[in-house]
Amino acid sequence: MGGAMSWISEHKLVSSISNAGGFGVIACSSMSPEQLENEILLTKQCIGGKEFGVNLILMHPNIDELINVCIKNKITHIILAGGIPSKDLIGKIKVNNIKAITFAPSISVAKKMVRIGIDALIIEGMEAGGHIGKVSTSVLAQEILPEITDVPVFIAGGIGTGKIIVNYLKMGASGCQIGTLFACSKESIAHPKFKQKFINASSYDTVISTQLDSNFPVIPVRSIKNNATKDFTDFQKSIIEQYNNGLVSKSEGQLAIEKFWAGSLRRAVIDGDVESGSLMAGEIVGLIKKELPVQEIIDNIVSDAESYIENFYINRP
Ligand SMILES: Cc1cc2nc3c(=O)[nH]c(=O)nc-3n(C[C@H](O)[C@H](O)[C@H](O)COP(=O)(O)O)c2cc1C
Repeated sequence: MGGAMSWISEHKLVSSISNAGGFGVIACSSMSPEQLENEILLTKQCIGGKEFGVNLILMHPNIDELINVCIKNKITHIILAGGIPSKDLIGKIKVNNIKAITFAPSISVAKKMVRIGIDALIIEGMEAGGHIGKVSTSVLAQEILPEITDVPVFIAGGIGTGKIIVNYLKMGASGCQIGTLFACSKESIAHPKFKQKFINASSYDTVISTQLDSNFPVIPVRSIKNNATKDFTDFQKSIIEQYNNGLVSKSEGQLAIEKFWAGSLRRAVIDGDVESGSLMAGEIVGLIKKELPVQEIIDNIVSDAESYIENFYINRP
């Protein structure tokens, strides 16, 4: 699966992933319902009947309208991100013949999601790029895969080779989700300077954002270290100061902090401001040596998986 990436997973990348044998997912992020419909139509034009999905952020103010756009356009898979979906929401999606998929940050959430009707789960470790949880991919996989057998489970965070995919499949996963590698693909619309930062980075170069005040909770974000990391800390400080002086309400402050990353990522991805824009990337960025076509990224992973199976499992004495 292609992991949805805000500003990056638009029709060109999504259709390239599905056309190359993967499963592309549009990142709706902060798009309006009209913008989402346009992206869906453009993807369909490039994709010739192959399947793809749409990733929706639960706290989007127009979430119901966005789901209606997916229903109207006969989307087959919706991936719900940025929170825990309700039974009603999952029901609304499924009753329209759409598969509902979401993220499970823990075994208890995974079990609850299965109980309320989710069709598939993604477990994403803290090695991943973008907004992350607290636990690593390998630990989540060992905790969740043996317990969840009623629905397919996909593994995300730190996937860069066929070898690791073979091992997660052997442990019971149905597939893996990749973000960072595709962000640096030829078909990704990310600015050349953004991609160059990925090519230059090692796995040591990513950092996780920190929260300054429990009144203003922050979902941690993993990105390549640059000024955005420090700017985010300064931004939080200024919001907390404004709140303490009665200049903004708590909810206004929380919203402003939440919106920081969307604007900051756009500046880096679209405008190429790689000094102060956010360079969201997973630790696997260290494996990227050059910009490659999506087809080559997928072919490399598949042939690596095949030779690993052959050498390790078939020819092993
Ligand atoms: C630049 C960037 C933006 C992302 N935006 C989103 C998003 O909008 N919605 C979402 O569910 N996940 C988002 N993710 C997470 C990816 O979909 C995917 O799960 C993750 O990148 C997988 O881990 P990896 O980076 O190690 O491959 C983003 C990741 C990156 C790198």
